[in-house]
Amino acid sequence: MLQDKDRIFTNIYGMHDRTLAGAKARGHWDGTKDLIGLGRDKIVEIMKASGLRGRGGAGFPTGLKWSFMPKESDGRPAYLVVNADESEPGTCKDREIMRNDPHTLIEGCLIASFAMNANACYIYIRGEYIREREALQAAIDAAYDDGLLGKNAADSGWDFDLYLAHGAGAYICGEETALLESLEGRKGMPRMKPPFPAGAGLYGCPTTVNNVESIAVVPTILRRGAEWFAGFGRPNNAGTKLFAISGHVNQPCVVEEAMSISFEELIDKHCGGIRGGWGNLKAVIPGGSSVPCVRGEHMKDAIMDFDYLRNELQSGLGTAAVIVMDNSTDMIKAIWRLAAFYKHESCGQCTPCREGTGWMMRVMERLVKGEARVEEIDMLFDVTKQVEGHTICALGDAAAWPIQGLIRNFRDEIEDRIRVKRGGTVEIAAE
Ligand code: NAI
Ligand code: SF4
Repeated sequence: MLQDKDRIFTNIYGMHDRTLAGAKARGHWDGTKDLIGLGRDKIVEIMKASGLRGRGGAGFPTGLKWSFMPKESDGRPAYLVVNADESEPGTCKDREIMRNDPHTLIEGCLIASFAMNANACYIYIRGEYIREREALQAAIDAAYDDGLLGKNAADSGWDFDLYLAHGAGAYICGEETALLESLEGRKGMPRMKPPFPAGAGLYGCPTTVNNVESIAVVPTILRRGAEWFAGFGRPNNAGTKLFAISGHVNQPCVVEEAMSISFEELIDKHCGGIRGGWGNLKAVIPGGSSVPCVRGEHMKDAIMDFDYLRNELQSGLGTAAVIVMDNSTDMIKAIWRLAAFYKHESCGQCTPCREGTGWMMRVMERLVKGEARVEEIDMLFDVTKQVEGHTICALGDAAAWPIQGLIRNFRDEIEDRIRVKRGGTVEIAAE
């Protein structure tokens, strides 16, 4: 259990002063010049030693990613791009940072950009996050006025500019290369990787794309040390983490906790338990809509980290957006809704995703009504396997995995519905 003194986000509930003065009073922007004075190599070394894994969902080691950036300029500018296009269904943690604790992010942008030799950083924020954009822009303006950004930022000798760009409602623009396309003024379509952004990113220049939370924790890690951060969670799953818990709990919330906390403790301590008690828990999607669901009875003792959820439960921590569903939930309909979402958001660029998401959604629609044949369950599973790993970006996988989770965990429910032919009694809302 995380103690208050170990929290990086001191204003995640928005209870305190979110202005620059308030942030400074809570310890942010304290000795930023000295942190930059550590030098590039040292900063990257500390980030590697901290064990921080990317908080956007994939969990790629952050320090390692930074080390892919060229050490010396080859004449091209380098960029840091912060992915604030938080659109994963269930995921709403970065929103709280941007509206309540924006200076953690802004200070992190300065230090991380310095470490990667980038004089400019773009924060690409989800179009729907209008209030968050306003809060973040006000905080950026205040930081400029105070000399923390711009020429000789924070008296560090480093010139640094920070820009806020916003999307227009396309989920796919959260995929890092689609985001870069969008920033460059084109339609948000993912690029083939490699090359990874560190080799050819924004405007063809070396670029690192990091999630909001990954960057916002950087200053505190540098202040308190790699060992302090690595002391939370199990090996390979280090740190504190924002969990966004929604659905059928008594008090949904976004909370910072130690990685590897048990699911039971997370829910009982911060959410007032499951609606109707633990016996009423049916299923959990533990990491945002892209990861497979897990049956409730397997979740109670689950350890909330990357390795446990992947290795033991065939799911994932993803963005740590924990979606809780009780026994009142129609699981088939819930997963159908996600299938419809991914079909809608597919950019249509590659065939397995463009055709597969529509196909999967239509079969799911029939499963909801109990109108499919039992053999189609295996056929649907086969189709998810044809989509998974055969597309340009991770949206194809994200569309396939929830359906695989449904079939693995709730096959009995699907078969029962087909058997009793409840067709027509379950309403499907028009898309
Ligand atoms: P990925 O595993 O392909 O890449 C993760 C990061 O590591 C990227 O920045 C990539 O450039 C870098 N990377 C990976 N391999 C590399 C290599 N060999 N060399 C250099 N860099 C390398 O995953 P991706 O597609 O970036 O993200 C998928 C995840 O995003 C999903 O698992 C999902 O949980 C999450 N997601 C989050 C959303 C949100 O709202 N936060 C929305 C949608 C998905
Ligand atoms: Fe577009 Fe889907 Fe292909 Fe990604 S997987 S590039 S979203 S069609």
